[in-house]
Amino acid sequence: MSRSGPVGVGIIGAGAISDQYLTNLSGFPDVSVRMVADIDVARAAAQAAAYGVPRSGTADQLLADDSVEIVVNLTIPAVHAELSKRAMENGKHVWSEKPISLDRASGRDLLETSARTGSRIGVAPDTVLGSGIQSALRAIARGDIGRPLSALTAMRVGGPERWHPNPDFFYQPGAGPLFDMGPYYLTTLACVFGSFRRVAAVGTRASEFRTIGSGPRAGQQVPVAVPTQVSAIAGFEGGGAAQSVFSFDSTLVQMGVVEIAGELGTLVLPDPNMFDGPSLLVRADETIELPATGFAGGRGSAVLEMARAIRGGGTDPLPASLAYHVLDVMIGIEESAASGQFMAIESSAPPAPLLPESWDPAARTL
Ligand SMILES: NC(=O)c1ccc[n+]([C@@H]2O[C@H](COP(=O)([O-])OP(=O)(O)OC[C@H]3O[C@@H](n4cnc5c(N)ncnc54)[C@H](O)[C@@H]3O)[C@@H](O)[C@H]2O)c1
Repeated sequence: MSRSGPVGVGIIGAGAISDQYLTNLSGFPDVSVRMVADIDVARAAAQAAAYGVPRSGTADQLLADDSVEIVVNLTIPAVHAELSKRAMENGKHVWSEKPISLDRASGRDLLETSARTGSRIGVAPDTVLGSGIQSALRAIARGDIGRPLSALTAMRVGGPERWHPNPDFFYQPGAGPLFDMGPYYLTTLACVFGSFRRVAAVGTRASEFRTIGSGPRAGQQVPVAVPTQVSAIAGFEGGGAAQSVFSFDSTLVQMGVVEIAGELGTLVLPDPNMFDGPSLLVRADETIELPATGFAGGRGSAVLEMARAIRGGGTDPLPASLAYHVLDVMIGIEESAASGQFMAIESSAPPAPLLPESWDPAARTL
């Protein structure tokens, strides 16, 4: 059935991040949020009521709703793959929060399911489409730092149990600082350097339990099943190198450090977990602030691009192959931390998504 007008969106997962998606997607005229679903149907109903969404219910009800064309999967990482696959097999396109899945086999299965069903799948982070990272990528593309040679990234905090009321998933496979925050940094590095080709890492774990710091479960302990500090080095297809630290074990809060050293200068990028912010161009004799230009956007911006591509037949700026490559890299880092060996990375990243400066998700085009 060929459709026209705003594209119907259904959100599965009415937890902490759903507020940002519901706020943004409710404001974009090219999409229309039709339903919110969750295994906790009361939570889904409350979010639907808060944002004026007409229906709420279970994931099965949402997948059977003909008015929903794109499923936005905001569930916990452990169920991303299963729900994304079921959505595509039910004729829906999918936007999934990161990571795409927990293992390579289910990640590849999602790419194959997309090819087989003709349903699109895109995966967070869409922060790389925001004005901050897009302006930095444009600066690198126009040669401001010459050929990129190496990178330093850092993300060190005390851990999300301090602010998240249900932080259990952050300490289970599919999260930890590497899988939870890695996608922002590693996706940005792939956009700058192209495909990762090998990685090595050391991982450590400060304690076996973390204590919830806020909400009705404050004081409860959650078990830790993953490294809570990962130090990684990487080599890229073009010869570039990067070193990265991802930590939930630091009282020093150091977020969003991404520095790219090139032949002519170093670019200090804005936080890749944010949608805006200037870059700093550091040359031997001068330091210049490069303002972010273009639409800053917010979580859900890529859903809008997918909606326009569904109606207009275009391609998605953030194909799932990029998310799969980042998953492959994160698993390689984890494997290296366990084995002490360098790990080869076999998948490849597609070219960096470069949007025109005039890109405007708030414009009505459908
Ligand atoms: N919280 C953040 O700041 C943040 C930021 C960016 C991305 N994310 C990502 O968003 C996703 C969700 O994070 P969150 O913080 O909102 O988690 P959350 O635990 O607050 O919410 C997840 C929701 O999914 C629901 N759910 C779980 N399994 C389900 C199933 N099988 N069917 C239907 N619903 C199910 C839960 O009941 C819960 O309401 C994660 O992938 C996370 O990495 C979170």
